[in-house]
Amino acid sequence: MIPDQDKMDLILKAAIAAPSADNSQPWYFKINEDNLALFIDEKRSGSISDTRYVLSDLALGAVIENISIQASALGFGTKITLLPDEKANPLSVAQISFSHSEKKDFSLADAIYKRYTERRIKLKGPMPEVLKEKLLLQSRGFPDIKLYWLDNKQQYHTALKALQKAESLRFRNQYLHEELFSSICFQTGLNGICKEGLSPKFLAVEPPLWPVFKLLRHWPVMRTLNFIGMANILGFRSAVLPARLSAGIAVLAVKSNERKTILQAGRALERIWLQATSDGLCVQPFAAAGVLSLGYIELETAYQHQLGEINTLMKTLDEQSKGLIFIRMGYYSGSSQLPNGRRRPSTQFRH
Ligand SMILES: Cc1cc2nc3c(=O)[nH]c(=O)nc-3n(C[C@H](O)[C@H](O)[C@H](O)COP(=O)(O)O)c2cc1C
Repeated sequence: MIPDQDKMDLILKAAIAAPSADNSQPWYFKINEDNLALFIDEKRSGSISDTRYVLSDLALGAVIENISIQASALGFGTKITLLPDEKANPLSVAQISFSHSEKKDFSLADAIYKRYTERRIKLKGPMPEVLKEKLLLQSRGFPDIKLYWLDNKQQYHTALKALQKAESLRFRNQYLHEELFSSICFQTGLNGICKEGLSPKFLAVEPPLWPVFKLLRHWPVMRTLNFIGMANILGFRSAVLPARLSAGIAVLAVKSNERKTILQAGRALERIWLQATSDGLCVQPFAAAGVLSLGYIELETAYQHQLGEINTLMKTLDEQSKGLIFIRMGYYSGSSQLPNGRRRPSTQFRH
C-alpha cells in the first residue's frame, strides 16, 4: 500500500534530506499504485568517482533508510526490495511498499532534519564508550556491514596515510580535480547556499583564503601549484588535519562489493549518522580512500602506483572487510550548521 498524501509528503521530505556525495542528490522517485520506486538519476550520477554507481548507491541507501525511519515514526512498516530488476534496469534501485504497524524510531526521525556534514576543523572529545557502543549497535542490523573504531595506534596511522594519499589525489589528478571543483557552487559567493552541489558556506574555507581557493578551480593553476606540493597541503588541510582533531574516527566497511551490500552500507551510514546527531555529535564522512581502493576507477597510468598504495593501505586496515568510508566524529563547541541545500521536491519525481 501507499500511505495517504499527507503522510507520503512527510516521508518524501525525509527521503530527500539524505546526504549524498558532493550533494549530487542522484535520485528520483515514482509513486506507483502499491509501492514507491526509487531510481538513480542518470543526469546526476556516473561521474568518475561514481563508477559502478558506488557513491550513488550509498546515497540511495541513505534515502531508503530515511524513508524507513520516517515511515516507522508515522506508524508504517516497510518492505524494501533492493535492485528489483538489476540486469534489465540497473538504475532501478528499490521498490518500497508500506503496511500499518506500531509507531517507533521517533528520536532517529527527529534527527533527520538536524543531521548535516560538519567540516569545521576541531571536533572535541572525549566520546564516551557507551556512545560508541550505541553507534556500533546501529550498524549491527546490517549483516554485511562492519563498523569499527580506529582505537589501535597502528590502524589509526595506516588510515591517516590512506586518507592523505586519497584526498591529495583529488587535487593532483585532472579528472578528479575537475569533478570536485565542478560540484562547488562558486556563483553563490562565500556565504551562498545552493540547491544542488556543495555550498561554499559549508566548506570551512577560511574567508581570507577564499580568493586563492577560487583560483584553484582552474586546472592550470592547480597543476602549477602542485609542483610545490599544493595537492599534499590540501589533502592534509581538508581531511587529515580535521581527522586528527576529532574525538574519534570510525570505519564503515563492507564484506563484499556487491551493489546490494553497498546500498546496505548507505543505510547503515545514515542510521549511524542520525544516532550520532541525536546524541549531539557532529559527523564528517570521507569517501575517497575507500572508493578509490575498490579498483573501479580508471585513472591514467601515471596514477596507478598511487591507487595501488591506497589499495594496500586500506587492505591492511582489516583483513575481513573492505573499508569504504572513514567517519570522523566529535563535539563542536559553537552553534550547529544547516545542511546543504536540496533541489525542489517537484524536480525529484518522474511519472
Ligand atoms: C557517500 C557519501 C560520501 C561523502 N563523502 C564526503 C567526503 O568525502 N567529504 C566530505 O566532506 N563530505 C562527504 N559527504 C557529505 C556530503 O558532501 C553531504 O552529505 C552533502 O553535501 C549534503 O550536505 P549535508 O550532509 O550537510 O546535508 C559524503 C556523503 C555521502 C552520502
